[in-house]
Amino acid sequence: MNPVDASRLTVEVCLTRAGRLETMADDVRRGLTAPQKSLPCKYFYDAYGSRLFERITEIPEYYQTRTELATLQSIADPFVDDGRFTELVELGSGSATKTRTLLDAMERRGCLTSYIPVDVSEAMLRESAAALLDRYRNVTVHGVVGDFQQHLGSVPRPTGPRLVIFLGSTIGNLQSDERRHFLAEARELLDADDRFLIGVDLVKDVGMLEAAYNDSAGITAEFNRNILRVVNRELGATFVPEAYRHSAYYNEADRRIEMHLVPEDVQRVYVRDLQLTIDVSPRETIWTEISCKFTWDSVVAMLDEAGMTLTQWHTDPRGLFGLALAARHG
Ligand SMILES: C[S@@+](CC[C@H](N)C(=O)[O-])C[C@H]1O[C@@H](n2cnc3c(N)ncnc32)[C@H](O)[C@@H]1O
Repeated sequence: MNPVDASRLTVEVCLTRAGRLETMADDVRRGLTAPQKSLPCKYFYDAYGSRLFERITEIPEYYQTRTELATLQSIADPFVDDGRFTELVELGSGSATKTRTLLDAMERRGCLTSYIPVDVSEAMLRESAAALLDRYRNVTVHGVVGDFQQHLGSVPRPTGPRLVIFLGSTIGNLQSDERRHFLAEARELLDADDRFLIGVDLVKDVGMLEAAYNDSAGITAEFNRNILRVVNRELGATFVPEAYRHSAYYNEADRRIEMHLVPEDVQRVYVRDLQLTIDVSPRETIWTEISCKFTWDSVVAMLDEAGMTLTQWHTDPRGLFGLALAARHG
């Protein structure tokens, strides 16, 4: 790769280390002292966790990424022609691999001017920004290192028709109240001609869903345990990650995969920076992630509640994964 052209890159860091640690300390204290222990899933994504997620996207059981990519490839050109978007804003951008399908189409159309990734992982954001600046020679990148639940106000105002994307069914990782708040904020990023493209994993056969989160290579288990390593490193905790078993199952009533860490025997954990000691017993779990599954109806209702209208709906032939395009209500 050629050296990054610094004049085309701006990275705005909304999360200072001190601020991030303070928020993490509050989140971890609240999560570990609640009757159902939990840790917020955004803490999976340090540099190692982001890499593990990239490996998950390649495992055979994880149909989501390749299915979403295939649908994106089939719709990208007509879609970009319709919208004449000049800028692409991506929330939870990660490696921005699938994003290239849309950026390529925008470049072919000759309208691409800027890409605005927002991600909590600074390392991943800088790495993907460098790769994209190398690939797209006329684009500027304005990265926002921040929490998409708190920092959408730092996304610059639109300079032309804008497409905001939220791929990978990351929306499914939010609880319903968080989702409502997030979508209301995301709507504020849109002017009348702008569009919001959201990837959603669909309700399907339980066996297929559970296999996607219990891969035979154990990469998802390693990803799950990484959250304990992050808390150890950042807050001086004494979790022994290997003492916890990965558990992921489908909760039919709530239409979601739940991911937990279950200790094999009683684990006493001290969190130095919180001066907190907790015991985690084998009857308990630490709940680390939800991954909600959607239907066309639930997507329409979710968007409507956030003041948005579904304008296009695309799925793969097997109906595994959906891509919903929305506009703000007139
Ligand atoms: C499930 S991955 C999806 C990555 C990519 N969009 C894709 O479709 O493959 C979630 C991404 O969102 C980021 N992320 C998770 N929680 C976040 C938050 N609260 N604020 C900003 N980024 C977040 C992670 O760092 C990661 O890159």
